Amino acid sequence: MKKLVIGNWKLHPATLAAAKKLAAAISRKSKHVAVICPPPAFLAGVVFPRLGAQDCFWEPAGAFTGQVSPVQLKSLRVKYCLVGHSEKRKLGETDEIVNAKARALLAAGITPVMCVGFGTKVEQDDLEVTDVLKTQLELGLAGLEPAEVIVAYEPVWAIGTGKNATPEHAEKMAIFIKHKFGVGKVLYGGSVSPYNAKGFLDQRNIDGLLPGGASLIPKYFNQIINL
Ligand code: PGA
Repeated sequence: MKKLVIGNWKLHPATLAAAKKLAAAISRKSKHVAVICPPPAFLAGVVFPRLGAQDCFWEPAGAFTGQVSPVQLKSLRVKYCLVGHSEKRKLGETDEIVNAKARALLAAGITPVMCVGFGTKVEQDDLEVTDVLKTQLELGLAGLEPAEVIVAYEPVWAIGTGKNATPEHAEKMAIFIKHKFGVGKVLYGGSVSPYNAKGFLDQRNIDGLLPGGASLIPKYFNQIINL
């Protein structure tokens, strides 16, 4: 079955020329649906069939220096936008901000990819995790139609560490997120690589992946989108 693979480039690469080269190296024909999220400075310069943004502001326009609005992203043909990534939460993004951004994105016709997750260690108890996910989703999805939002489950200890969750744990969380909140699609993220991606893609309730590091290496990203 076709799944969704969203590459989060984070604050890479350093130049527009390098970003264009990276995007050009990604297969246009793949088994799964591929999306790339370049940094905001390169969104207008990079060519790829499906673009995502890594962040946005919640107002459409006004005196908000330095912000990028969903309406502006829409004009760049952006189809998806991350909200609530743990690296943004670490810098102060609250569940209320996540909710405001998701609302603004839906109003502009962009699908929010709401990142949730928690945990500092691999052995984190499942119940402890679902407890945190429950709060993040209750607040993050407040007043929204959950079926219109994609949720990315990313255990914090797995992001950029080379340590991934087990597909069984991720599947359990995906079932929780879908059944409890009526979310349509759930992705897994956190140290996704060509070596572990298949395990997640084979899970019934995991609808795709959110690789970070691996999305910057075209060979790896191309492998993942064709598994
Ligand atoms: P990673 O990043 O694949 O490098 O762990 C995932 C993410 O930040 O979404």
